[in-house]
Amino acid sequence: MSNDKMQDWLQELMKCDACKLRHEGNRGPTRYSGDPDSPLMFVGEGPGGVEDEYGVPLVGPSGQLLDKALWSVGLTRDHVYVTNIVKCRPKNNRTPTLEEGKACANIHLVQEIKLVQPKVIVCLGKVAFQYFYGHTASIMRNRGKWFTWHDIPVMPTYHPAFLLRQAGKDLVESKWQVYYDFKAAVEKAVAAEPDFTYKSEEKPNLLAQYESLRESRHF
Ligand code: URA
Repeated sequence: MSNDKMQDWLQELMKCDACKLRHEGNRGPTRYSGDPDSPLMFVGEGPGGVEDEYGVPLVGPSGQLLDKALWSVGLTRDHVYVTNIVKCRPKNNRTPTLEEGKACANIHLVQEIKLVQPKVIVCLGKVAFQYFYGHTASIMRNRGKWFTWHDIPVMPTYHPAFLLRQAGKDLVESKWQVYYDFKAAVEKAVAAEPDFTYKSEEKPNLLAQYESLRESRHF
């Protein structure tokens, strides 16, 4: 991955005014987190309040659960690439429509995939999965199965926010499902890039890491 090209894309992203999501009262587009050289890309839905504040994806409650799930399968956030379908926070945290997802991802996510060239993409939830496979693609029916998109293996699984809404037996069951889906994704990535380092000794503190970005987004 060329660092210059990544910087060029980031500059384009920060200037983006291509759709009305930019004008829904947010602080502007959010970038990616993690390592652009990682063979593993995780794609969420869109920024919530904490993400809008910090300018990076999945650092709020869903992101904290994601970090725990990654750790359980031998991954840390600094060694995977994490991004969202839409980069600007929709008003009141509403779910972005498929049209909004397409409008944003056709410009930005597609460019990220070209630059990062992931060996495996994990779709976190319906919005991400439906971007790749259309509006009838069901997470409930398809999670845990392999798909491909332009020859890249794609694994759909539950979004961490879905897990946060579960309780009791349902929660235990869905956590195990995500664990097995992530495990399958790591195994495929390791088979493709066995020499890559997938885990740091400690979980990175993302909020501390992105504090200066957060300060730069306050106006
Ligand atoms: N925050 C994100 O950045 N993405 C999601 O999908 C949910 C919360």
